[in-house]
Amino acid sequence: MADGQIVVSGLTKLYKNVRAVDNLSFTVAPGRVTGFLGPNGAGKTTTLRMMLNLVKPTAGEATIGGHRYADLTDPLRHVGAVLEASSAHKGRTGVNHLRVICAAAGFPRQRADEALALVGLTPAAKRKFKGYSLGMRQRLGIAAAMLGDPRVLILDEPANGLDPEGIRWMRDLLKSLASQGRTVLVSSHLLSEMQLLADDLVIIAAGKLVRQGTVSQVMDSMAHTAQVRVRTPQATELVSALKSTESATVTPNGDGVLLVTGVDAPTVGRAALKAGVELHELTTERPDLERVFLELTAGKAAIR
Ligand SMILES: Nc1ncnc2c1ncn2[C@@H]1O[C@H](COP(=O)(O)OP(=O)(O)O)[C@@H](O)[C@H]1O
Ligand SMILES: [Mg+2]
Repeated sequence: MADGQIVVSGLTKLYKNVRAVDNLSFTVAPGRVTGFLGPNGAGKTTTLRMMLNLVKPTAGEATIGGHRYADLTDPLRHVGAVLEASSAHKGRTGVNHLRVICAAAGFPRQRADEALALVGLTPAAKRKFKGYSLGMRQRLGIAAAMLGDPRVLILDEPANGLDPEGIRWMRDLLKSLASQGRTVLVSSHLLSEMQLLADDLVIIAAGKLVRQGTVSQVMDSMAHTAQVRVRTPQATELVSALKSTESATVTPNGDGVLLVTGVDAPTVGRAALKAGVELHELTTERPDLERVFLELTAGKAAIR
C-alpha cells in the first residue's frame, strides 16, 4: 500500500426504505485526524462498514491506499478498525484475547503485549474481559486494531460512553498515531469532541456530504453566520441607522443589546459614529462549531 489515503467515491447504500448513504464522495489524508461527523442516523456506520467490506455498497466504492479493502492481502497489516460494540470472549483475559488474534493473523506473539502497553492496559492484561469497564473495553478494541501496526485506523464513535479522562486519553493517542504519519478516521455525532481532536472534518447528514475541509475551512465556510453583538443606550437610533445599510439584519436581545448579522463590526461602528450613537459594547461573535454543525445538519436526519 503506497500511502494511507482513503478515497470514497459515489458510495451509496439503499436499504428497503432508507437511503442510508447517498452518492457520498470524500478523501481522508494520511498524517491527520479526520473527524467523520453527522447526527445519529446520518450514515456514518454504514459508510465505515462499506469501507471495510462488511456491507456491500449499492453503488460506488471506497479505496484505502488505492485498493479496495476486499483486495488487500493481509488487511490487518494495513487497516485497523474499531467498530461499535467491540467485544471479546468474556472469560478470556485481555492479553489472551489479543494473542488469539495474533495467532490467527500470523503476528508475533509479543505484539499483544506491545499493543496492551500502547493503550495503557498492561496492568489489566491478566484480568478477564468480563470485568473490564467500558473504557477498558474501548482500549482493548484499539489495541486489537493496532496489532498489525496498520497505516490506517478507522474508529466508529470510539468516545461513546467514555468519561472525560478516557476521552482525553483517546484524543492524545489518536493525535500521536496521526503524527506518526498514519491515517486516522474517527466518527462522532459530537462536534465539540471533534473540535479538539480533528485536523479535518467530513460532515454528512442524511447520507449526503455537507462539508469537507480543515476545521478552519469548515468554520470559514460558515463565516457569514458570524454575528455582531452591540450594546447601546440608544438602541432605537442605532436600529434606524443600520436600516440604511441594506444587508444588516438586527435582532433586539433585550437590555440594549442588538444582535446584527449580514455586516461586520466595523460597519456597525461606523454607522453608530455617523448617527452619533453611543456604544457600550461591540463584539464579533463567531459561531462555535456546535452551532455550525446544528445549522448544517438541522432537519436532515434520515427517516427511520
Ligand atoms: N441493516 C440495516 N437495515 C436497514 N436500515 C439500516 C441498516 N443499517 C442502517 N440502517 C439505516 O440507515 C441509516 C444510517 O444508519 P447508520 O449508518 O447507522 O447511521 P449513523 O452511524 O450515522 O448513526 C439509518 O436510517 C439507519 O436506520
Ligand atoms: Mg453509527
